[in-house]
Amino acid sequence: PLPPAFQVPLPIPAVLKPVSTGRYEITQREAVLEVLPGFKTPMWTYDGTFPGPTIESRRGRPITVTHRNELPVPTVVHLHGGRSTPESDGYPTDLVVPENWGAMHHGGGHGGEHSGMQDPRAVVTTLTRDYTFPTDQRAALLWYHDHRMDFTAPAIWRGLAGLHIVRDDLEDSLDLPSGPRELPLLIADRSFTADGSLDYPSLDPTLRTTPGVREPYLAGVLGDVILVNGSPWPVHEVDAARYRLRILNASNARHYELEAVTDDGRRLDLVQVGADQGLLAAPVTHQHLPIAPAERYDVILDFASVEVGGRVRILNRLGDGRTRDVMAFRVARTAKDDSRVPAVLANDLPTWQRSDAIRVRDFSLRAGQMNGGHGWVIGGRSFDPARSDVTVRLGDVEVWRLIADVHHPVHLHLVGFQVLSRGGGSPLPHDAGLKDTVSLRPGESAEIITRFDGYRGRYLFHCHNAEHEDMGMMANLEIV
Ligand code: C2O
Ligand code: CU
Repeated sequence: PLPPAFQVPLPIPAVLKPVSTGRYEITQREAVLEVLPGFKTPMWTYDGTFPGPTIESRRGRPITVTHRNELPVPTVVHLHGGRSTPESDGYPTDLVVPENWGAMHHGGGHGGEHSGMQDPRAVVTTLTRDYTFPTDQRAALLWYHDHRMDFTAPAIWRGLAGLHIVRDDLEDSLDLPSGPRELPLLIADRSFTADGSLDYPSLDPTLRTTPGVREPYLAGVLGDVILVNGSPWPVHEVDAARYRLRILNASNARHYELEAVTDDGRRLDLVQVGADQGLLAAPVTHQHLPIAPAERYDVILDFASVEVGGRVRILNRLGDGRTRDVMAFRVARTAKDDSRVPAVLANDLPTWQRSDAIRVRDFSLRAGQMNGGHGWVIGGRSFDPARSDVTVRLGDVEVWRLIADVHHPVHLHLVGFQVLSRGGGSPLPHDAGLKDTVSLRPGESAEIITRFDGYRGRYLFHCHNAEHEDMGMMANLEIV
């Protein structure tokens, strides 16, 4: 029942309107959506759509988002890439608990397999919750998603993800493609059952008691349908002009290597202007671009060389069969193009040197044990909210050496970082700029450098393969 590729129009998520200046409200609720044409898919949503509504904020203007939970389970909202205070960072036990949950479940714990769940200080529960974001950060594509302890992966899979775009004056001054020529592209794979329901191998499909997935999905859950902005293999009509693609890999575990190919087999340049945490110093041109879960790439794609009526397919070099196709653009008309890609994009990037670091830390990311079964561990330990793993001083510059057994996209909350080295050598072209997620390939090591500034409090770092994260691959990061 799957639709042919490049037929369904690309949806653009609606931009959320504030209820008053700087104040937003989102209701998390179940909704039945038509994801595959002609089929009904029950999903968990932010405000009834997948992706959720896009929040657009402006650097220097704090906003508050009130989330109300009408789902059957507790949830947690994290603004990925946000420089948030610890109270609003969506710690995995800071639960927003639905109305009828308390009596049965003692205020939101899921059974207390982790010692921290019995510690009343570790569990914060509310029916609605105000998340306040200072928005004191560079213009960038961020995203918000569920982050509940042990159940993040199935909650995102069911639909709890949306975009958040921070804008600023520097970016506005650059004349990058904008308006209808700026397209957010949230890429996520999913699997469906024959009736159109989402298919996910949860041990406990109610997401109430037992976390985790069945064999053979312990390394991560891959779907066989590629959705962009919630539609399967969509197509979008464009002018023969430059477009700015704000690409997010919101997949739980799937990696992509994207390329743009015309119907006569010509590969178009992907001109990267931004990374996870905003604009690069200068553009970097790629023929193909690897993108791991949670990474964002800000890419200019110029359709001027494509004849009217021609098509450009975005393909995934790591896919096979139908997971090779991602989406397509159809060039509908010639048009004037006043945009440009300046040779210098930003001059506000940090200039951290290895010699600035007052400490070097090592972390291994490997398969291990969780609750006596298969899990994924950082430094040999499975996540425990009651334990302190790493304590850093506010303002310190540190180098972290990360080493992986299999593919692990490693994400730090609060801070952006730079990739200092990869595999013992220079970073790769796509490591440029300020990142918040670095994709370690199997057996690979990488060094990152950052200054831990922002706020004191408890944050996290973890693997953003969402199944690995749920199976223990997360650690506490205390900033003091
Ligand atoms: Cu996108 Cu801690 O997560
Ligand atoms: Cu991982």
